[in-house]
Amino acid sequence: MERIYLDNAATSYPKPPQVVQKMMAYMNQIGANVGRGGYQTAYAAGGVVLDTRERLAAFFGFPFPSHVLFTPNVTFSLNLLLKGLLKPGDHLLVSSMEHNAVMRPLSQLAEKGISFDRIPCDSQGRLLLEGMEPLLKPNTKGIVMTHASNVCGTLLPIEQVGKFCKAHNLFFGVDCAQTAGSIPINMEEMCIDALAFTGHKGLMGPQGIGGLLIQPKLAEKMEPLVVGGTGSFSHQEEVPTLLPDRFEGGTLNLPGIYGLNAALEFLEQTGIQEIQEQERALTDRFLKGAASLTGVQVVGTGDASRSSEIVSLVFPHLDQGELAFLLDSQYGIMTRCGLHCAPNAHKTLGTYPKGTIRFSFGYFNTVHQIDYTLEALEQILKERG
Ligand SMILES: Cc1ncc(COP(=O)(O)O)c(C=O)c1O
Repeated sequence: MERIYLDNAATSYPKPPQVVQKMMAYMNQIGANVGRGGYQTAYAAGGVVLDTRERLAAFFGFPFPSHVLFTPNVTFSLNLLLKGLLKPGDHLLVSSMEHNAVMRPLSQLAEKGISFDRIPCDSQGRLLLEGMEPLLKPNTKGIVMTHASNVCGTLLPIEQVGKFCKAHNLFFGVDCAQTAGSIPINMEEMCIDALAFTGHKGLMGPQGIGGLLIQPKLAEKMEPLVVGGTGSFSHQEEVPTLLPDRFEGGTLNLPGIYGLNAALEFLEQTGIQEIQEQERALTDRFLKGAASLTGVQVVGTGDASRSSEIVSLVFPHLDQGELAFLLDSQYGIMTRCGLHCAPNAHKTLGTYPKGTIRFSFGYFNTVHQIDYTLEALEQILKERG
């Protein structure tokens, strides 16, 4: 049976072959640590780490490669941002569509006297811009929100929110888990002060590597989450003030950085416009096909040009878990069902507590796979719907 991977919002698969090759080359031929050895291979690894920071900075329209901080994933980056910046008595705004990578740190911080409000979104996940101003308080420090909903794909108006933050002297942090690598992002143009990304989704890198790009002025106010040896300033026991060292205690994930480096090279060569067009065309085809089936509800805007490459469906007469099982076991189609770590997004969309079945597409999916999946759904609905 053909296997069709439609869970790219969880992690992208397959990866470009260069990613695997570069990770293997590091493990087999380099293997050295960075800043901890006085020999050629250690310098070579240091060069790749620097090159990866520079590629990421260029990719996201950010002029400070030294302020590209490596972390294990976007969850860590968001924890660093929220816990490193907010102090008791501070107030933050988030959208009502956030992933638990934002909400769980905030629920921990609430116990320390940090409060938050949710900017309302409508039942398609669209942010109500007019809902921001009335929520501002004298102690509001910033806005943190996702660029695209991981439940239904709806894009949030990052550029407008960025301008709003600038006008109100608030910091603006964006969770780009679902858009980095699939949708062009320019931190300068979008007035983003802190961009949190994960390497293993749209950026097509391996798991275990992510990062935070943070404007120097904001970084000055942020405390590190983890501190330790950096291979630099070894004469002092105090935490270094220089970036990125200040926020990167301990050995970096070098196989991950090598893999991400190759993935970025692939993205640069292919071009993000080409990737976006391809993924959007597949999403559009699937959305139109799903909307034409009886017994299916599309969750979100139903418009591929207003979303990332995610489609969430609800089958009122079928159990979502059973459907995901049938797709996998009888048709080889891999999807995800449930709440996708974003309970409040489902409350906003009206799909709580049952959740949805999510289909998420990547650059390596094909038109044939979309059509085959639609046929499988039609067949299942005929038999069970
Ligand atoms: C919007 C959003 N934020 C955060 C995350 C967490 O990503 P990671 O597990 O790579 O930290 C995800 C991934 O599922 C996501 O979709």
